[in-house]
Formats: sequence, C-alpha cells, structure tokens
Amino acid sequence: MTDDARVSAIWNGLKSADIPELRSIFTADPDRLTKHVFEVAGLRFDFSKTHLLDPAIESFLDLAEAVDFAGARAAMFAGEAINNSEGRAVEHGALRGEGRAETVAEAKALRTRMRTLIDAIEGEALGDVRHVLHIGIGGSALGPDLLVDALARHSDRYDVAVVSNVDGCALEAALKGFDPQATLIVVASKTFTTSETMLNAASALQWMMDAGVDDPYGRVIALTASPDKAMEWGVDETRILPFPESVGGRYSLWSSIGFPVAMALGWGGFEELLEGAAAMDRHFRQAPAKDNIPLRAAFVDQYYTQVMQCQTRAVFAYDERLGLLPSYLQQLEMESNGKAVKRDGSPVDGPTAPITWGGVGTDAQHAVFQLLHQGTHIVPVEFIAVTEAGDRLDPEHHEALLVNCFAQGAALMQGKDSDDPARRYPGNRPSSTILIDDLTPHALGALIAFYEHRTFANGVLMGINSFDQFGVELGKEIARTIEREGPVGFDPSTMALIERALG
Ligand code: F6P
Repeated sequence: MTDDARVSAIWNGLKSADIPELRSIFTADPDRLTKHVFEVAGLRFDFSKTHLLDPAIESFLDLAEAVDFAGARAAMFAGEAINNSEGRAVEHGALRGEGRAETVAEAKALRTRMRTLIDAIEGEALGDVRHVLHIGIGGSALGPDLLVDALARHSDRYDVAVVSNVDGCALEAALKGFDPQATLIVVASKTFTTSETMLNAASALQWMMDAGVDDPYGRVIALTASPDKAMEWGVDETRILPFPESVGGRYSLWSSIGFPVAMALGWGGFEELLEGAAAMDRHFRQAPAKDNIPLRAAFVDQYYTQVMQCQTRAVFAYDERLGLLPSYLQQLEMESNGKAVKRDGSPVDGPTAPITWGGVGTDAQHAVFQLLHQGTHIVPVEFIAVTEAGDRLDPEHHEALLVNCFAQGAALMQGKDSDDPARRYPGNRPSSTILIDDLTPHALGALIAFYEHRTFANGVLMGINSFDQFGVELGKEIARTIEREGPVGFDPSTMALIERALG
C-alpha cells in the first residue's frame, strides 16, 4: 500500500467506526482515566471526557506513523527548512535550548544582549523609566500581552501597556496615565514594516516630542528580525534587540519579543518561562507517540474536525489571568492551520483548523454556554483551571471558580433528561481539562509550548505547512492601493463605502 492509500484507509476506518456514547465511556473501560490523563511539567491533561476509544487512538497512532510524524518533528528540531513555501527553518524551540546547536548558541548570545540592555535600563542608563509602551501587532503583541497580564498582576516593577490596533483609540488609552518623561517606547515587529505598528510608533514618538522629552529616539527599543530597517527608522544599533528570521511571528514570544515580559517579571521570571517551554519541548521530542501530549491533543482535534465535522473548538480559562489566552490561541491555531492546500500545493483532504474561540469562566457560563449545552452545534470544549488561587481574597472565590469549571465538564457529558423538551440536556458533549498546579512562568511556558507543538502536530497529520500565512497579504495589498489611489477599480459596494466614509 502506498503511504497515501494507507492514510486514506486509516481515515476511512476512523470515519466508519461507531461514535461512542460519552456517558457510558467510563463504565465500559474502568482504566480510562489512567489511559487518557497525563501529567507533565506540573500540568495535568485530562482527555478522558472525549469520544476517543482505544481503537481510535490506535488508528491515530497508525496515522502518525504513515505521515512520518517522527520525521517531521526531527526535521523541525534539526533546523531543516520545513516552512517549504518560504524556504525557512522553524526554530522557536532553539530559543529555549532545544534545536540546532548553531541557533541555540546564537539565541543564547542574543539573550545575553537583551539582559545587558535590561540591566542598563534598571541601572537608569536611559534615565527615569517607569512605563513601558510595547507597540506591535499579531505575534509581536499577543504573546507579550498575555504573559504580562497573566503573570505580572502583582508586580511592582514597570507598568507595561501593549498597543496593537491602528485605531488611535488604542494608543490614546495606553498613553493615559503614562508620563512621557518616564516612558520607554518598544517597537516590536519582525519585519519592521507592518503599517499599523509603524504608525503607532510614529505617533508615540510625536507624543514624546510634544511633551518636550529630550532625545525621544534615545528612548526607543526595537525588537526585530530586520535590524537594518530599525536603524533606517532611527533606532540606534545599541537599542536594537534582534531575533533570528527562522522564528515565526506567532512563535516569537521567547525571543526579544518577550522584552516587556522580562521587564515586567524580572529576568529570573523570563528564564523560568523559557525553562517551562523547554520541559515541554523535551517531552514532545522524547515521549513515545502514545503518551505524547501535544500529539494526543492533535488526535482529539482531528477526531472532532474530520470525524464529527465540528467546525469550532472553544477554550475557556477558568482563571481571570488567562483571559487573553483565547485570542493568543486564535492567531496560533488559525493563522498556522487555516489553510486549503497541503505542503505540495494539492488541495487538502478535509476541513483544516476549526475556528478557535472562547472566553473566561465563569463569565462565559452566563453568556454562551446555553449553546454549548443545548444548541445544535457540537463544540469540543477545553477547560483550563489553576489549583492555586491568583487572588488574595477569601478562598471562597477560587473554590467557586473551580467548582463551576468541573461542574460544566460533567454537565456537558452527562446531560439531563426531562419530559419538557426545552428543559432537556442531550449530554454526550465532549470536553478536555488542563489543570495547572500554580500559574508560574514555568507552567505558562510549558502550556504555551504545548499549544505550539499541538498546532504543529495537527499540521503534520493534515499534511500542511503550519508556518506560512499568505492569506493575510491580499487585504493588506488592497488597503495600500486604496490609500494610494482612492476608490478606483473596485466593486460598487467597496467604492461607495470608501466615498461615503473617506470622501
Ligand atoms: O499579518 C500577519 C502577520 O504577518 C503575523 O503573522 C505577524 O505576527 C504580524 O503580522 C506582525 O508582523 P510583524 O512582527 O512583522 O510586524
């Protein structure tokens, strides 16, 4: 059998097997918990309330072998150009010490450079600094924003604000309460050409000039893989923190893009984050396929997308500190795997990335959970909870949070019968739970690395390149044309909108 024929046969087997009833899944297999719950780096992953039975897992293990998952993983960590459409390696692992020796060494040297600059700032080499204004978008903003919000709530170091949107309301809001004489402007952009970022950076600089700050350019730090462009823009070489081209935007928070995180947490916190990610890298590289957590999570994703045809997946963090996680995951998963062609350009065999959405519990229970429990869509839900409380109030708060989280998973699975159809819960609805002991930088590093590898594993199982993003270019191109030429040559609807709003 050719590899393609083997892959099709595996999928046919998966799709034709009966879908089990979740309610009876534990009685049918008393060992289910031991087989579907895993622990690594202080994180507990519980996939037991999903529809995957042993035969489905066996089929997916076969699939992983048929698509040479192990070879693809080895190629990534060896620094081969697995991003084939752009001819680039994929080396975010090397930033955590796991990858090609040359890149690991280069990353270490770049980290030393970043630490030296941070030490200098702490030593007031750039004068009084109390506020850090981080300007970037997409992968140059979502990671830092998530990490600062999650980990620095009780930090008394620097105030960090992250601005991404080109809407001036975003920059205005961030500048409120910032003293221009005590602010550092951090311009984060892999390409240093992204129009939103460059406009926000120029306006922030103007804000400093208007306030009479001496040498505003002297208070700009650039985080980029294009140092020449940053220099052309006016940033002095000593304040440019580069990162390798082989680190993709949505995988870049471990590079100098993490600068505001190190500022907010202190250097020790940043290193702990990298160590947590490295612990997950080692697991991903070394654990056998059957116990490999990111791969197992990808099996679950593939089952719901391809077999049960679920078009979305929802992530609910039962922890206020992880409120930005769903947005972070939207870019990671949808920009990586929202594709319609395989690595060789041929059409994909089925649906690719589901739509990732979500929010925080318990808020979401009072807004969107109605649909999850009784709606017509089956949505695989992922719950994330933290055992240790993040607040210092009465422990009752945290207990209520956890109780609600676990109750929702049970309710989705077990449902409830009623004579009144409006009050009936069908149940049989899947969920996974990730339980973190304590939301430390180490744990969050491991969690984010888990999501990165899961995304990659999904891409390998579907045969797609997870590391390009050509789909974002056309809209940018058309925006540039409109800016340059105005309403010419577009469809009547677009022309009328431009004329009405922009004159
Ligand atoms: O437009 C999409 C994108 O290229 C993302 O992939 C990236 O994270 C973001 O824009 C920002 O790009 P840059 O870091 O080059 O400004």
